[in-house]
Amino acid sequence: MADILCAAFNRIQTTGWTMAKVYIPVGSVSGTATAVAEACADALRAAGHEAQTDSAASIEALNSGAWDAVLIVTSTTGRGDLPSNLAPFYTALGEQRPAQNGRPFGVISLGDSSYDATFCNGGALMEDRFYELEGQAPVPRVTIDATETQTPDVDAIFWLNEWMEKAF
Ligand SMILES: Cc1cc2nc3c(=O)[nH]c(=O)nc-3n(C[C@H](O)[C@H](O)[C@H](O)COP(=O)(O)O)c2cc1C
Repeated sequence: MADILCAAFNRIQTTGWTMAKVYIPVGSVSGTATAVAEACADALRAAGHEAQTDSAASIEALNSGAWDAVLIVTSTTGRGDLPSNLAPFYTALGEQRPAQNGRPFGVISLGDSSYDATFCNGGALMEDRFYELEGQAPVPRVTIDATETQTPDVDAIFWLNEWMEKAF
């Protein structure tokens, strides 16, 4: 057992690979963003990281997990609004302003370009908020357009691979 652990540790040291803990706040009305978030969590785990999705994201959970990175996955509803299960988190971030001190974050933003001026605005709101709190985005927010793709999970994971490479 000790040999196996030692070999694993050596591998980490020689390759520079480190396990990261990723918090995934999710905003979704009808489940698409939730499915995308779960697919991303699975991809992160398959790459050797820890990932936790949260459909009722809170400052308490954000602050309590010793997270190495935050990955927001959200759709947009109403007229450019965040889904009601993520909006309270956005508001609390604005009120309590937890400093991110350069912690890596990423935003996967789902929407529909027929909404034109408010296309993927929910993700834009979250991205702005994390920049205000001095998070650091290794890769800009990705937008996933329901009019253009039938496979939002595949599109998200394509973007996630680059994000993972640069974030950790
Ligand atoms: C009532 C309603 C309002 C929407 N408003 C917007 C919008 O303002 N901007 C946008 O990009 N997409 C908008 N959408 C599209 C959704 O964001 C898109 O279909 C998304 O994939 C839904 O994901 P979800 O199932 O996780 O909520 C709207 C959809 C509905 C049903």
